[in-house]
Amino acid sequence: MFLLICSLLLASSVSPAAATAAGNAAGPKSIFLLAGQSNMSGRGGVVNDTWDGVVPPQCRPDPMILRLNAALAWEEAREALHRDVDVEKTCGIGPGMPFSHLVRRRDPGIGVVGLVPCAIGGTNISEWRRGGRLYGQLMARAQAAVLGGGGLIRAVLWYQGESDTTSHEDARLYKRRLERLFNDLRSDLLSPVMPVIQVALASGSGPYVDVIRKAQLELELPNLRCVDAKGLDLEPDGLHLSTGAQVRLGHMIADAFLRITAPLPVQSSGAHRRCNNFFLDLFLRWIR
Ligand SMILES: *[C@@H]1O[C@H](CO)[C@@H](O)[C@H](O)[C@H]1NC(C)=O
Ligand SMILES: *[C@@H]1O[C@H](CO)[C@@H](O)[C@H](O)[C@H]1NC(C)=O
Ligand SMILES: *[C@@H]1O[C@H](CO)[C@@H](O)[C@H](O)[C@H]1NC(C)=O
Repeated sequence: MFLLICSLLLASSVSPAAATAAGNAAGPKSIFLLAGQSNMSGRGGVVNDTWDGVVPPQCRPDPMILRLNAALAWEEAREALHRDVDVEKTCGIGPGMPFSHLVRRRDPGIGVVGLVPCAIGGTNISEWRRGGRLYGQLMARAQAAVLGGGGLIRAVLWYQGESDTTSHEDARLYKRRLERLFNDLRSDLLSPVMPVIQVALASGSGPYVDVIRKAQLELELPNLRCVDAKGLDLEPDGLHLSTGAQVRLGHMIADAFLRITAPLPVQSSGAHRRCNNFFLDLFLRWIR
C-alpha cells in the first residue's frame, strides 16, 4: 500500500527542479526538532539570569540556517535559539547552531537547515508524554515546520532527564517513559525510523542520576543514538553546560546524526521525502 501510494505520487508529482525551487523559496529542506529541558534550550553564557551575549564563531548566524520562531514563521536563526519559546528563563547558547554548522559542512546535500526549538527548562518526562501540553506543542510546531516550506524532518534532538532524578519512582520509570515518547513521536510524525539523538546526563541535582543515565545509555531503538555529556564543562551554577561545552555537544550530536544518515542512497531519499510529507499532510487533515 505504502509503495503503491509512493509510486502514484512520484508519477504525478511536479518536476524535481520545480519542487526544489519552491521548497527553497518557502523554507528549509532539512528540519530538526529540538526538545527536552534547559540544556537543549541553552544556558551557555547565562550567569545570574543574564546572558553575556557572547556568540562564538561556531554559533554565528548563516542564511542557510533557519529557525521556526514562536509565531511559526521561518527566520534566519540566531542565538539565543529558544528565546521566545522557553520564555520563563533566560536563554543562552545551546547545541543547535554548532550542530547545524557542522552538519552542513560535512554534508552540503543537507541544504537549508530549519531548526524547530521546543525545549522548556525544568520539565520532567511525564510532562512530555503524548496527550500533554508540551507534546502537543512539539507536534504543532513540527507540523507547521513541514507545511511551511515542504522540508523533511530529519531528526529529533533530545536532552532531558535532570528533572526526573529526584524521585525514585520517576527514575525507575524513566526508561519506559523515554521509549514510549520516542515511539509516539515517530508514529505521530509518520516516520517510524526517524533518527533520534539524545544526550546522556552527566550529573544532576537529584540522587538518582545514575538510574537516569543508565536508562539513557541502555535504551535501544533503531536509529536512536546517545551521546554522553560526561566531562563537559558546566557554568558556575553547576547546573548547565557552558558555551564551550554546548559547542562541543552540538558537534557530538552532529557526528552521531551523520553516522546514521551516511548510507542513505540519494535517489530513494527523494521518494521518501515526498511520501513522508504526503502522509503527514493526510494526518493533519485527519486530526483537524
Ligand atoms: C552572581 O551573583 C553572585 C551572588 O549574588 C555574585 O557573587 C556574583 O559575582 C555574580 N556574578 C556575576 C557574573 O554577576
Ligand atoms: C512533573 O512535573 C509536573 C509539573 O511541574 C509535576 O506536577 C509532576 O508532579 C512532576 N512529576 C511527575 C512524575 O509527573
Ligand atoms: C545539564 O547537563 C549537565 C551535564 O550532563 C548536567 O550535569 C546538568 O544536571 C544538566 N542540567 C539540567 C538542568 O538539566
